[in-house]
Amino acid sequence: MKSIAKYTESFNAYLTRKCNNQAPSSLFEPINYILNLGGKRIRPALVLMTTDLLGGNAENAYSAAMAVEVFHNFSLVHDDIMDDAPLRRQHPTVHEKWDINTAILSGDSMLIWAYQCFEDYDQHSFFALVKLFSKTAQEVCTGQQYDMDFENLQQVSIEEYLEMIRLKTAVLVACAFKMGAIISGSGVENQEHIYNFGVNLGIAFQIQDDLLDVYGDPKTFGKQVGGDIIENKKTFLYLKALEISSEDDHNQLKHLFSISPKNTAAKIETVKQIYDQYDIKTVSNQRIEEYKQKALKSLDQLILPENKKEKLINFAQELMQRKV
Ligand code: IPE
Ligand code: IPE
Ligand code: MG
Ligand code: MG
Ligand code: MG
Repeated sequence: MKSIAKYTESFNAYLTRKCNNQAPSSLFEPINYILNLGGKRIRPALVLMTTDLLGGNAENAYSAAMAVEVFHNFSLVHDDIMDDAPLRRQHPTVHEKWDINTAILSGDSMLIWAYQCFEDYDQHSFFALVKLFSKTAQEVCTGQQYDMDFENLQQVSIEEYLEMIRLKTAVLVACAFKMGAIISGSGVENQEHIYNFGVNLGIAFQIQDDLLDVYGDPKTFGKQVGGDIIENKKTFLYLKALEISSEDDHNQLKHLFSISPKNTAAKIETVKQIYDQYDIKTVSNQRIEEYKQKALKSLDQLILPENKKEKLINFAQELMQRKV
């Protein structure tokens, strides 16, 4: 992502300085492992970029950026246990490389570390940032639980799905933008507009994540392709296919998403054939575009010079091109 590459690079240098090998290694090695596996670093880069664009000093944004990225990685470590995922960023997940107990405690420790990052701020910023962060973190947990509950539910509406992904994914992206607005001392209205931009972009981002889970290139995607199908996740693709398919295909999909067969490859293949038959890829891309446009609409109200808004628009365009 060209427009935020410089923030990503400087954040990576900062993160390398912050990671150290404390004892016991059984707790801290997994933490350093997941944080150094790469990842796109979208959220911390957004905290830095937004602070900069809204007239603040990006130097003051590193601690908040770190909090958001450490929290994101904590959520992935636990998410991979919950989703029984073997691969993350092309490498074994923490609970596969070590074990579930290790992944639980390393994750917990990362959540605490995320909070500690805010100790670098003065009282005024500390309160505003932690308040936003706690609300966001609680929402992410709520969304995660809905995601899990939906696996075993027969009836999930697209509205319910959209609310679930707003919570599990979009609010953290929005939080990253809003933190930049807070650190730069922006007024509450601008804070809200950039937050809404982030929420809609985050929803588009998760629908795209669902799409990549099925259609990503196994060589580069970095996660197990078809993982959502194996786990019976109620993704946008699944819900849309149920809505528009014939009675037979509808019933077959419902059946496939209520079982956990040993032969996962055959299940993935059959589901994919149904998705292809109804061109679910195109339908999903249309919905992604819709949320991107919604996001761009929030920018109309944001008080910011056009050349700076342009940077946010470019970021939104680039984000939607992602392949991993
Ligand atoms: C993965 O997030 C989890 C979702 C919310 C979809 P990213 O796609 O940002 O993961 P990394 O950090 O780049 O690996
Ligand atoms: C991730 O959703 C949301 C959180 C980690 C809170 P997914 O389960 O779709 O993310 P990936 O696909 O494993 O990265
Ligand atoms: Mg998940
Ligand atoms: Mg997952
Ligand atoms: Mg996913």
